[in-house]
Amino acid sequence: MKRSLLVLSALLLASVSLAATVAEVKKKGVLVLGTDPTFAPFEFAGPGGQVQGFDIDIARALAQDLGVRLEVRPVGFGALMPQAVTSGRVDMAMSGITITPERAKVVSFSGPYYRSAQVFIVRGGNPGKFAWPADVKGKVIGVQANTTGQYAANDTLKPKGATIKVYDDFAAGLADVRAGRIAALIGDAPTVADLQKRLPGQFQQAGKELVAEDYGMAFQKGSDLAAAANRTLARLKASGEYQKLLNKWIVQK
Ligand code: ARG
Repeated sequence: MKRSLLVLSALLLASVSLAATVAEVKKKGVLVLGTDPTFAPFEFAGPGGQVQGFDIDIARALAQDLGVRLEVRPVGFGALMPQAVTSGRVDMAMSGITITPERAKVVSFSGPYYRSAQVFIVRGGNPGKFAWPADVKGKVIGVQANTTGQYAANDTLKPKGATIKVYDDFAAGLADVRAGRIAALIGDAPTVADLQKRLPGQFQQAGKELVAEDYGMAFQKGSDLAAAANRTLARLKASGEYQKLLNKWIVQK
């Protein structure tokens, strides 16, 4: 009896200390960022293995404004959104996360910080002459699990007769594009532009964009960190630092 009470209060304490609020983060002295670092130029491993990118610099600016240090915790995208955020395993997530009404039901987003789109990636030279919105009937189209690319493919491409192949790992999808095993892979526009820069000739965008979207920073539902993030974004924009970060990391725009 006593023991279960102890366990219960321990659990309660744990859940209280998990609440990622401005005060809580300041008290711990650290802001824990969850991110899936396979998404250049937003988050990816640098030469020394450290995670870097546009999102990381923005999160660091938020940590700086809060007077704490930033800790970057790699989490696969499928686990990150939204479980790692809602469970309090991380204080926030930045991972090129698209703001959607469904996600906004379970997490609190900052205002939009980057305009993006879902686009089709094919092998360099587009040997299959893939086009969208031309006919995708009978084509196999790859998507990354749990992404807006998967949601859009299910809503828009499946009804038109495409077969959707789901990858946990984006790199595995790219390998299948390169080997000609799938007609196209859906990905985020700025990451495709980055791929084209890093691996010239191997991949290209084909067809029109599937859907336009905005990225946001994700926090526990109702956390005052979202408002703090908006203040940091406004500061970065007003000072010109935001534009500098765009120039530093993002090839298109
Ligand atoms: N923007 C898309 C989404 O929110 C894909 C993001 C994937 N990010 C990543 N780091 N793998 O669903």
